[in-house]
Amino acid sequence: MAFYGNLGAQGFASQTLAPRTIAAPYAGATVGTVSGYAPQVAQPRAYAAQPTFTSQPAFAAQPTYAAQPTYIQSGISSLAPRAATVLGSTVLGAAQPVRISQPVAAAPTKPEGNFKVCVVGGAGGIGQPLSLLMAQCPLVSELAIIDLNVAMVPAEGVQADLSHIEGKCKVTSTVLVLNEDKAIDKAADALSGCDLVLVPAGVPRKPGQDRKDLLNINCDIAKGTVEACAKYCPNAVVALIVNPVNSVVPAMCELWKKAGLDPRKIVGISTLDVVRANKFVQEITGMPCSIPVIGGHAGKTILPLFSQDPAGASIPGDMIPELDERVQNAGTEVVKAKNGKGSATLSMAYSGARLGKAVLSGLAGVPVIECAYVESNMFGGPYFASQVEFGREGVMRILPIGDLTRHEEARLEELLPILQDEIQDGLEYAATREFAQ
Ligand code: LMR
Repeated sequence: MAFYGNLGAQGFASQTLAPRTIAAPYAGATVGTVSGYAPQVAQPRAYAAQPTFTSQPAFAAQPTYAAQPTYIQSGISSLAPRAATVLGSTVLGAAQPVRISQPVAAAPTKPEGNFKVCVVGGAGGIGQPLSLLMAQCPLVSELAIIDLNVAMVPAEGVQADLSHIEGKCKVTSTVLVLNEDKAIDKAADALSGCDLVLVPAGVPRKPGQDRKDLLNINCDIAKGTVEACAKYCPNAVVALIVNPVNSVVPAMCELWKKAGLDPRKIVGISTLDVVRANKFVQEITGMPCSIPVIGGHAGKTILPLFSQDPAGASIPGDMIPELDERVQNAGTEVVKAKNGKGSATLSMAYSGARLGKAVLSGLAGVPVIECAYVESNMFGGPYFASQVEFGREGVMRILPIGDLTRHEEARLEELLPILQDEIQDGLEYAATREFAQ
């Protein structure tokens, strides 16, 4: 049984810097410089509000940070042993002074391409605006929408509607009959040839519910889609906008690996946390910003690193805990305001499109750095949200998390065991299942 966009209509200062850098090794991805290109930061702060690549002047006006300071690695209180367990031969530290959340000097390049994108749940609350944003992306030449026959509006209607928007994008639709059709049987045409599959599918939270309450139902929904991707577009990047992200992504990625596929293609959304942190900081400071958010995508596992952006760092230290909590609870804020009629749809669609465009830019050969929740050895792993570099094969590199303030360090210690438990739920789901063939 699969539910897509129909269900609930949502588918879904100065602070003291501790003088240390935590390195970010990554199993499976290259840590360090990727030759042949220089990465760019997605949505650089000068362009944060621009929705498409069309109007972005190819990152040309980005400042460069050639003379970056070196951060000295020092002893790390109680986090040190955990960090030490994952520091392999690919340690980034003082020798590679990458100050994250700042653009790396790069030759300005505009990504070009004709990619096929599928939005599974494309007629739902997130799926419709997400499809609108992706149909406008100049990198997308084909947009396939999949949804159930009981979606908010018929998928064919969304197709007809979007097909009238000027531009090169051809839009198709596939309808699956609730409780009868499976994507693996019916979505071959929609998924074949896809470069990116965005999955805003699943049951949304109701007031009083935790994202964890959605675990089994949404894992089953995601599995129906991801197993079809494994069959018809095994090289596509699959971006999961399915709660609880902290568990669903590990579950799907482990099944993906069991099928012999590349985990660099499975990505979980955490972009909305970045978008919210940026918004809330701008409300306070009046300055656009680019706040990295690490950890996971639920409650205390969401850790915004305000200190790593000039605007965020200008906020007095005594305001940070409250601001941090606002970002952690922002999803619940929307759930309450929607009063039983779903969770964030528009801001999630915006964030999903931001992630999708970062992935496509990377596939087009113009790497982009964006936060995402992915397989990662950071702090013992195996999954963690942090800044990653999207390139030709999906997730190419995981960046170090950089310097933390005392507050951020304490929050990191607090979140790790919570995240581990939620990851474990996903691993247990995957342990007893396999993709249908
Ligand atoms: C969000 O952060 O808004 C989403 O994860 C939806 C939710 O349930 O909070």
